Amino acid sequence: MSAHSIRRQRLAEAIRARGGGVAIAFNAPEVVRNRDSEYPYRWDSDFYYLTGFPEPEAAVVMVVDGAGSESVLFCRDKDEERETWDGTRFGPEAARERFGFERAEPIARLDEELAKLLADRPALWYALGSNERLDARVRGWLGAVRAQARAGVAAPAQALDLRALVDEMRLVKDDGELDTMRRAARISAAAHVRAMRATRPGCREYEIEAELLHEFRRNGSQFPAYGSIVAAGRNACVLHYRGNEARLADGELLLVDAGCELDGYASDITRTFPVNGHFGGPQRALYDVVLEAQQAAIDAVRPGARFVDPHDAAVRVLARGLIDCGLLQGSVDGAIESGAYKRFYMHRTSHWLGMDVHDCGDYREPGAPPGDGGRPWRVLQPGMVMTIEPGLYVRGDDLPEAWRDIGIRIEDDALVTASGCEILTADAPKSPGDIEALMRG
Ligand code: GLY
Ligand code: MN
Ligand code: MN
Repeated sequence: MSAHSIRRQRLAEAIRARGGGVAIAFNAPEVVRNRDSEYPYRWDSDFYYLTGFPEPEAAVVMVVDGAGSESVLFCRDKDEERETWDGTRFGPEAARERFGFERAEPIARLDEELAKLLADRPALWYALGSNERLDARVRGWLGAVRAQARAGVAAPAQALDLRALVDEMRLVKDDGELDTMRRAARISAAAHVRAMRATRPGCREYEIEAELLHEFRRNGSQFPAYGSIVAAGRNACVLHYRGNEARLADGELLLVDAGCELDGYASDITRTFPVNGHFGGPQRALYDVVLEAQQAAIDAVRPGARFVDPHDAAVRVLARGLIDCGLLQGSVDGAIESGAYKRFYMHRTSHWLGMDVHDCGDYREPGAPPGDGGRPWRVLQPGMVMTIEPGLYVRGDDLPEAWRDIGIRIEDDALVTASGCEILTADAPKSPGDIEALMRG
């Protein structure tokens, strides 16, 4: 049985445990970029997770009751003329066989079939409230079922969020997913090495971006997992910098936040290194603080720890470092309690990573009663993957000149294992000695 069939079976069990019903998930639409050109197609993560089916204009419907479950794929019909222009389509029959569905139908029959499939079912599970078009379509299906009321047919009494179930499943990765994520991480690490080798004063940020993209693609990655950030000097203090145009100056640092997507799975790495191959004094001092903070955070990743523990560990090291460098005054506890450190560290240390770079999954314990600070943070368990990405962003005319306009982030991807964590992105050097040696070579 394919990994996708197993996931549908697990989802069916979760739906059955909640009283059964009909679940529907759509693949992403194709989107026009301009005139006759489309954006490169990327399927919807949830849909692909459940089906492995790569074509647009497709939906999967699962009917679940106490007796069993049936999965029906709706997809485009074969079309010789369109296939001449755009490539082959499976068509329902071949798709059913190849992807292991009980049944497959042309997508054009979806509305008509749903009016039947939803009859006398207790609940409809879908991506509730995620887009207006879908919500309108759901109203249409429910209306069609309600119209049969006089024939004794009942419409679902409940609409429930399918994503809550699928998100929970996606949060803990299986062996096949982890294998892909390890490969994606290795490709991205090689791209960062390539970027370090290519960096020298005078070249442009986009030239380094080109090196990253080249390494991604030549290793089979289909897309960057997100827009690559290549930020020299003060640009590194812009967290979502997108320009990638500036010239790299001697004496600046270069922050590169880039990761590839491979077979639908993201990687996410940041490295910060000197344009001329040598860290200056204040740069090195701040870099050492961020590196120590990252190590403290990595040491806090283990099963049973809470999602927030790595963040808290990083913040403590960063606050102490900022005080030691004279950028903050007072005590470490004081800087943490008052939030004074947030001037220089304004984002969180981690997010889940998977099919989406900011992957799905509740950061708090689902269903747990809220305490003083909200629901308790999620307990980490083996198979979860999260980034560890502390940074310092030092800017402001009130600061001593030597410290100004330095932005540093160090980001790795950590898999929670039975005993601690595995750093998937370890091939990208990050100790100052290793970076300087690589850039010298
Ligand atoms: N590159 C996106 C992030 O680090 O969250
Ligand atoms: Mn990240
Ligand atoms: Mn990143």
